[in-house]
Amino acid sequence: MANHRLLRGVRWWRKLTKREWAVFSAALATVILTLSFVSHSHYHSGRYASLPANDGVPFTPLSNAHKKSAFCLDGSVPGYHFQQGFGSGSDNWLLHIEGGGWCNSIESCSSRATAALGSSKMMEHEVLFSGIMSREPSQNPDFFNWNKVKIRYCDGASFAGHPESELKNGTKLFFRGQLIWEALMDEFLSIGLSKAKKAFLTGCSAGGLAALIHCDNFREILPKNTDVKCLADASFFLNEKDVAGNPTMENFYHDVVNLQGVAKSLNKECVSRTDPYKCFFPQEFINNIKTPVFLVNPSYDFWQIRHILVPERSDPHGSWQKCALNINYCNSSQLEVLQGFRNSMLSTLGEFQKNAEGGMFINSCFIHCQTWITDTWHSPNSPKINSQTIAESVGDWYFNRKPVKYIDVPFPGNPTCYNMDLTSRP
Ligand SMILES: *[C@@H]1O[C@H](CO)[C@@H](O)[C@H](O)[C@H]1NC(C)=O
Ligand SMILES: *[C@@H]1O[C@H](CO)[C@@H](O)[C@H](O)[C@H]1NC(C)=O
Repeated sequence: MANHRLLRGVRWWRKLTKREWAVFSAALATVILTLSFVSHSHYHSGRYASLPANDGVPFTPLSNAHKKSAFCLDGSVPGYHFQQGFGSGSDNWLLHIEGGGWCNSIESCSSRATAALGSSKMMEHEVLFSGIMSREPSQNPDFFNWNKVKIRYCDGASFAGHPESELKNGTKLFFRGQLIWEALMDEFLSIGLSKAKKAFLTGCSAGGLAALIHCDNFREILPKNTDVKCLADASFFLNEKDVAGNPTMENFYHDVVNLQGVAKSLNKECVSRTDPYKCFFPQEFINNIKTPVFLVNPSYDFWQIRHILVPERSDPHGSWQKCALNINYCNSSQLEVLQGFRNSMLSTLGEFQKNAEGGMFINSCFIHCQTWITDTWHSPNSPKINSQTIAESVGDWYFNRKPVKYIDVPFPGNPTCYNMDLTSRP
């Protein structure tokens, strides 16, 4: 049954990578619908049957958007989905920032402005909360009853763009990522975040990068006695050359940062030390973040393999095509390259690993985001390291129950992995 569900999820991932994340939101609805079967079966059979079902959480447009000049790429009003905490979670807040890549050119930003990742006009009116967002204790043991916010991503630059970089010649694209971040925080502070006892800023992919970029600011806007931590899921994008030897990812980040004037939002220490665009790579500033950070990342992140290690242009004969869609199709020489990528990730994380306040869960699966999906966050068959699910590991770290610096054995050593098969078609 789990496999059947997973297969449906796979189709979703396939679409996502094929169209370069442009259809993220529509596809998101599909996978969440799929996952809702999981929550409903838990609901009907579980011992938490007194809880209401995980109904859709409505979209709330940012009420101060106009006052703060905070707009999506197309000029529409950004927003979020909010679910009130209850019981012992009433004073705690978990924020999760949606991911969905970046745009690096006028063309890619213009096309994004016509889709859910660039325009709230195209977003679903409600989403289901699952995984780290779930309100069912069986699926989300430590955070189920917290106030939760899913922040929608519509600026194309991880909430770090600046209006000074907008084009002045009639091509109207709004670069307001930083202003959206500030307006969101104002709004959340006014509806209860300012009284939070615990606060947890999380995000997946480009949203996790935003969580890292804004982590210390999130700490600063909250009272001193608030317990503040951050988590980035599948956001440790490596600055590695592709298999043809070209710095594809570095060029891409260079263009994103320059197009939207992102440097102003990046870590000051990092920007004073190196080329500002390089500070969009977590490896350049992770050790400068003062607030405790947890990294969830697969060492064979399929987004990274498909976009950093083997982008289409680096593989003109398509010899990597099958391997980049399903790790089981990689031959021994390709696997060696993937192990090299994993080694780079682990050595790049070396210093962070020594950070006493940090936490990590680096599993050896072929997947991308794992925290907001019930099957990968916390379920009987979810990926584990040291017999711990991601939810248990993050909870142990967040509540200081024990140090969590988990690094998996290399592929194919972990039988609990969900390795995505991106080759299956609907
Ligand atoms: C505005 O400038 C950009 C970048 O130079 C260019 O790509 C775009 O076509 C221009 N738009 C108009 C309407 O001239
Ligand atoms: C693996 O596949 C690639 C691409 O098809 C090929 O060039 C290479 O020789 C293969 N290696 C082995 C060990 O089969």
